[in-house]
Amino acid sequence: MDEISSIKTAFSEALASAAMLDGIERLRIQYLGRNGALTAILRALKDLPEQERKIRGDAANRLRAYVEDALHEKRAELERTTREGILVKERLDVTRPGLVRKRGHLHPVTQITREVIAIFAGLGFAVAEGPEVETEYYNFDALNIPADHPARDMWDTFWIKSPKGDVKTENVKRKSERLLLRTHTSPVQIRYMESHQPPIRIIVPGTVYRYEATDASHEIQFAQVEGLFADSDVSVAHFKAVIGEFFARLFTPDTVVRLRPSYFPFTEPSFEMDISCTYCSAKGCSVCKQSGWLEIGGAGMVHPHVFKAIGYNPKDVRPVRSKSPTATAVPTKSGRTSNGVQGFAFGMGLTRLALMKYKIPDIRLFNSGDLRFLKQF
Ligand code: PHE
Repeated sequence: MDEISSIKTAFSEALASAAMLDGIERLRIQYLGRNGALTAILRALKDLPEQERKIRGDAANRLRAYVEDALHEKRAELERTTREGILVKERLDVTRPGLVRKRGHLHPVTQITREVIAIFAGLGFAVAEGPEVETEYYNFDALNIPADHPARDMWDTFWIKSPKGDVKTENVKRKSERLLLRTHTSPVQIRYMESHQPPIRIIVPGTVYRYEATDASHEIQFAQVEGLFADSDVSVAHFKAVIGEFFARLFTPDTVVRLRPSYFPFTEPSFEMDISCTYCSAKGCSVCKQSGWLEIGGAGMVHPHVFKAIGYNPKDVRPVRSKSPTATAVPTKSGRTSNGVQGFAFGMGLTRLALMKYKIPDIRLFNSGDLRFLKQF
């Protein structure tokens, strides 16, 4: 009997200090396994005299039941506590604020460019593009701006050294290949017409460069959008309708467009475009210098020389002259010959539009890379 109670004591102590599930299993084998201490006692019972076997058998069976229950309970307890431990350790607080990811956004000039493209797309214009490093031919010559013409001074130019040295001499096609940073988006008119036939309806958003002193309203690099519409019967009235609709959609429906006579070598007639001041509704304010108008860009009817240079047949728009008042030559209804191409073109500052739309006081902020500025859009 002493043996049984000492087994019980030893088992209880061992069980109390078991802290892991595999420890419990080891105890089960140690006491109830094939070579277990209790198993040995139970096995030896059959050799005992009956009286003694009964008493010892009773005690041994009670101990076995006790060991089995104790092991069962301890296992359940350990399973519970380890699961709780895991739950505590791996607890996920879904209410904690997450890490805020910093998102970038589009530059204000990109935003306005996309808006302008969307409006012109709605009016039937496609988008065309051209190189920023341009040749003298496309930037000037093909636009009816000869090398020695004073009008060239309207576009102060960054010239680029060609790796081969300046190719100033004209090549076989008489196209100057001297390189420059394009001073306007107009050369893309030429490039597009070289590879397309009328009817043409395109806009050309892009970066242009001017070699000039910078101030709050002048930058050496800014964005322009060019427009070109070429077909068989195109007039200034068409241009006014298109550009009026554009500004009505970009600003407000009551925005008024005004055309003033001007000069560009590649258009005739040429205009300066103004719109009614978007700040003061044309009442007069500091932005429009009390005039009620804002200068927005240049425009005009494509010059016949430009059409000729790319191989189009420009429509003869000269009034039909008769030798005598009684002559029978009757002009066509529009006073024009029936064949040939006509078109209008315009160019305006996209950066300037962004400046006006967002009421930005200094154009140099756009390319400053200053996040305090950019974050506001
Ligand atoms: N390219 C001219 C400029 O940058 C603007 C313009 C474009 C004028 C098309 C007439 C026609 O000043």
